[in-house]
Amino acid sequence: MTEVVRVDAARPNHEDISRAAECLRRGGLVAFPTETVYGLGVHALDRAAVRRLFQAKGRPANDPLIVHVSSFAQVAPLVVALPEQAALLAARFWPGPLTLVMRRAPSVPLEVTAGLETVAVRVPAHPVARALLLAAALPVAAPSANLFSRPSPTRAAHVLDDLDGRIDMVVDGGPTQGGVESTVLDLTVDPPAVLRPGAISVEMLRTVIPAVRLGVVRATADGRAAIASPGLLSKHYAPRAPITIYQGEPAAVRPALLAAAREAVAAGLRVGVLATTEDMPMLSQVPVVIAELGSEYDVEAIAARLYAALRELDAAQVDLILARDVSQDAGLWRAVRDRLHRAAARVTAID
Ligand code: TXA
Ligand code: MG
Repeated sequence: MTEVVRVDAARPNHEDISRAAECLRRGGLVAFPTETVYGLGVHALDRAAVRRLFQAKGRPANDPLIVHVSSFAQVAPLVVALPEQAALLAARFWPGPLTLVMRRAPSVPLEVTAGLETVAVRVPAHPVARALLLAAALPVAAPSANLFSRPSPTRAAHVLDDLDGRIDMVVDGGPTQGGVESTVLDLTVDPPAVLRPGAISVEMLRTVIPAVRLGVVRATADGRAAIASPGLLSKHYAPRAPITIYQGEPAAVRPALLAAAREAVAAGLRVGVLATTEDMPMLSQVPVVIAELGSEYDVEAIAARLYAALRELDAAQVDLILARDVSQDAGLWRAVRDRLHRAAARVTAID
């Protein structure tokens, strides 16, 4: 049985948090909201519990977890040495959606790091996550609280859709704000490299460490983008129906997408469209299932809605999903594009 505990996102009830913290201390699996997505927390130093977490998620053992702590002071015991860069970045961006990869201290189980000699650490900003970490007084390893390869959960209901009966508790603090997972920055290489783009953009990181670079992005045979990093498998964040992304000038892409939708509908398929607010008038011309992301001029709104929209289209049991790539090569857009392209089966360039 999975117990659901509803809390006020801004000021969670002390007793509820204490119970969730106690569950973590006893080796339980507790999902909780962070400012990005819901995490599935476990006592990071309890090897048996960490193995149960991998089982519950169906996650491959070669995909390392992020360790969450309540403050920068809690990082030192997890790493062999604290890089100067970590202190500078923490002072600027923690608590917040930035994960730092550093050299692992022997006390961090290899189950957490997937056998790596490095460990990923972050201090989340969400009041519920902060309260829970303080009450548990433990390092908490927490991947996103979804089944492996499903879109990350941005609401407690998403967590239950995937993991009801497989975990002990869900602390429901309502929808999360950020929507895409934290930026992962590798500090064990010189210069530091972004392994996963997120809300803390490379431009923001460069205001502290000018040399920061984007990790090596390679295109896979089928056109998807993939960053070379352990566990960053290209088949990630995906809904059940295959997504086709259309790239190019809006004036060319819109009619191409509309034609593809009409053709699929005529063939008897149920078509889902990941749409921006600006696409809505055009889509009224064809019977498709629409998941509206928000205005293409509002990247925060689109990031916050992306995973929920993918899950809505899954729930509507569409056969295929069409999307227009409205992303730009800067800031939070990079994270949105990264997630959309990872989820996609096909990218079609229209010219
Ligand atoms: O926003 C987030 O980061 C959310 C919330 C819950 O904190 N967590 C999250 O965890 O997205 P997860 O497990 O879904 O993604 C962790 C990412 C993976 O891509 C993994 O490869 C990378 O972090 N990672 C973890 N440890 C690493 C390490 N030692 N070296 C390189 N990458 C690592
Ligand atoms: Mg994940």
